[in-house]
Amino acid sequence: MSELQFDPFSYATQEDPFPSYERLREQAPVWRSPEHGFYAIARHADVLAALRDPARFSNRQGIVIESGFEQNAIAIFSILAMDPPRHDQARALISRGFTPRRVGELEPYIRALAVTRLAALRDARRIDFITDYAAEIPLQVICEMLGVPEADRNSLREFADAMVHRDEGSSDIPPSAVQASLDLRGYFSDWVADAKRRSREDLAGTILRAEIEGERLSEDEVIGFLFLLVLAGSETTRNLLGNAVYWLWRYPEQRAAVIGDPSRVPEWVEETLRFDSPTQAVARVIERDTRVGAVDLPAGARALLLLGSANRDPRVFDAADEFRIGRDTSAMLAMGQGTHFCLGASLARLEARVCLEEWLRFAPAYELDAEAAQRLRSTSVHGFSTLPVSVGRDS
Ligand code: HEM
Repeated sequence: MSELQFDPFSYATQEDPFPSYERLREQAPVWRSPEHGFYAIARHADVLAALRDPARFSNRQGIVIESGFEQNAIAIFSILAMDPPRHDQARALISRGFTPRRVGELEPYIRALAVTRLAALRDARRIDFITDYAAEIPLQVICEMLGVPEADRNSLREFADAMVHRDEGSSDIPPSAVQASLDLRGYFSDWVADAKRRSREDLAGTILRAEIEGERLSEDEVIGFLFLLVLAGSETTRNLLGNAVYWLWRYPEQRAAVIGDPSRVPEWVEETLRFDSPTQAVARVIERDTRVGAVDLPAGARALLLLGSANRDPRVFDAADEFRIGRDTSAMLAMGQGTHFCLGASLARLEARVCLEEWLRFAPAYELDAEAAQRLRSTSVHGFSTLPVSVGRDS
């Protein structure tokens, strides 16, 4: 086997991390990066145990491996940078906005958004699936839930895109990403001041009331949470949509099965989450000396939990490197597990189902230009920034 290398900062790894994951799982399931000092954890059982153990694997420095967030992680990552019990209290307040009823009520809105967006593309033969469609819907949905005015939504998307961009080889946050995060905070701080003057029944109202009634969210925490929702709620779902159409196109027999039976779209969504997880990795900091497998992790070290690798672990999934719609994906870790399990999981699944159902209705014979597709540059998120598609219609 080739030499063990795993560098999440290299574009080559970001492009296709799966061969490195396989080597890690087989040769060094807990591996210390000599260059960056973090410990990569690659097997499903170890990743799952770490996700369930916040007392030893803490979120307090945030969930990305880049340096620079340690001091003000909560301002950037909100509840994703908190540990229990503080985390659980804050999450309980916020999760009132994500009840199954509230999420379910959004389906007609999401469908109308998808249909309108596709109708606007009906004369095009070639589109960019990401910028013309996938990026549009999730951001609109979270902005709608929060009550962000339509006129502001484009700038929010630009901030969000700039925030996840990384320069090749660098383990620091680029200045453009830092600036974008400041801009987004600035936007929300004005917006919260304004929103407080109005009484609201939407998600923003729920979050703001949680603060106003003297419960535990400070204004800074409210802003941080809005910030997290915009990022977590738009980038990841966009990547799920792009990865879904990409892999369906790469596996024609699977595609025929889904087109023949659209009730299988949810299975397509689940297998995409497993096979090419939009969030490939989440970071933790070790709270006290801990042993994982045969390796000792000292307190203070960073650990990188490779969700994308866990989801390809052959100890859990048969023929894990095959995209097989309809398989049992229940052990998949794409949305995390335990105390930080994705708060937007059912919303993401709803958005993905509706958007993909409408996409297949719109362009069942779509063809990708794989040569022209471009990956996002990120150490934690896997998806496309550009995915040119011909819609497969003559007129
Ligand atoms: C395909 C889409 C999505 C994926 C793959 C995804 C993935 C994840 C993962 C892996 C975590 C856990 C992180 C950790 O353990 O450190 C998480 C947490 C979270 N996600 Fe998602 N997510 C998605 C969509 C969404 C959406 C649509 C929203 C909201 C609108 C959302 C909001 C959140 C929040 C608030 C948390 C933090 C929960 C906590 O700390 O208790 N996510 N997500």
